[in-house]
Amino acid sequence: MSLFDVYPLYNVTPVKAKDVFVYDDKGAQYLDLYGGHAVISIGHSHPVYVNALTNQLQKIGFYSNAVQNPLQTKLADRLEAFSGCKNYDLFMCSSGAEANENALKLASFHTNKSTVIAFENSFHGRTSACVAATDNPKIVAPINAQQQVRFLPLGDLDLVEITLKSEPVCAIIIECVQGVGGLDESTTEFYKGLELLCQRHNTVLIADEVQSGFGRTGDFFAFQKHGITPHIISMAKGMGNGFPVGGILIHPSIKASHGLLGTTFGGNHLASTATLAVLEVLESENLMQNAREMSAYFIEKAKSIPKLKKLKGRGLMLGLEFDFPVATLRKKLLFDCFLFTGSSKNPNLIRILPPLTIKKEHIDLFFKALAEKL
Ligand SMILES: Cc1ncc(COP(=O)(O)O)c(C=O)c1O
Repeated sequence: MSLFDVYPLYNVTPVKAKDVFVYDDKGAQYLDLYGGHAVISIGHSHPVYVNALTNQLQKIGFYSNAVQNPLQTKLADRLEAFSGCKNYDLFMCSSGAEANENALKLASFHTNKSTVIAFENSFHGRTSACVAATDNPKIVAPINAQQQVRFLPLGDLDLVEITLKSEPVCAIIIECVQGVGGLDESTTEFYKGLELLCQRHNTVLIADEVQSGFGRTGDFFAFQKHGITPHIISMAKGMGNGFPVGGILIHPSIKASHGLLGTTFGGNHLASTATLAVLEVLESENLMQNAREMSAYFIEKAKSIPKLKKLKGRGLMLGLEFDFPVATLRKKLLFDCFLFTGSSKNPNLIRILPPLTIKKEHIDLFFKALAEKL
């Protein structure tokens, strides 16, 4: 049987990984500045994480959501304390798309409306409603295209208001720092304006923190910099440090009822254990503080790159924009210098999404290689 050929694969076969490094089958060491699409938060194979999952697997790996799971309740309490998002409820699932799918569905149940406002260059996942809310027609199949979605320019509050007045909008979904789209971010005034308009028009504000959450930007969630209170916050990627786990935090103004949402795998014993271990290490190793410090160091070093047009993003969710396509440069960084970096919708932008454990010496390695290859 062949694999369904949907991924253009690099000819690299990782077999081992430790902290910020990945090792291939020939023993070569790669510096991971991409974390496998922003997934690795506390570093590859962190001992606390490995021990927690190993121990849990010896006890019970899975049972369904039909029984009590104290690990899920413990996680909800730890998330509340650590994220600072008070009084939200937690619903767990297994990926970023599933988190956004549940967020959009809940918004539609709650408001009894069906139109979604999303923003240009958004990426919210590949399933039904999320892919319809993703600004990339190439990945939207006819079955997805029947959803009512309006794509508006990021930052245009007037157009948001006009749309809210003229259509039955159940949700506004936003990435406070865009990921796949290329690291764009609007102003606090815009995000606060969205919050106010959602209140006025009985519309649910969804913060998609799938990529930007769990400390990646130096805040636990990227929206927190703007002082807003979304109705739903979606999470995944860094949440499980590689274990497939996602979830949504739901504001108390949205009420649960039995059967409203559901999943077989979501929040199982291993998924909850992985997330608890991530939170433990984020706290004990002060990784959000490290993200802020290493970000400042990276931004300072980037000033020495003469061909750099713009540095975008914040924390350890950064983009280096040039005035030429970066595909060849990224290949040279990978194959000549053993450095993983990321691409984005913007062909001129290199995405940097390292584990939050990264240190100055690793950033130095990257800039040395970049200067050589430019
Ligand atoms: C902001 C954002 N939302 C949702 C998703 C979809 O997550 P997943 O691939 O886990 O379904 C992604 C994935 O890149 C993302 O960056």
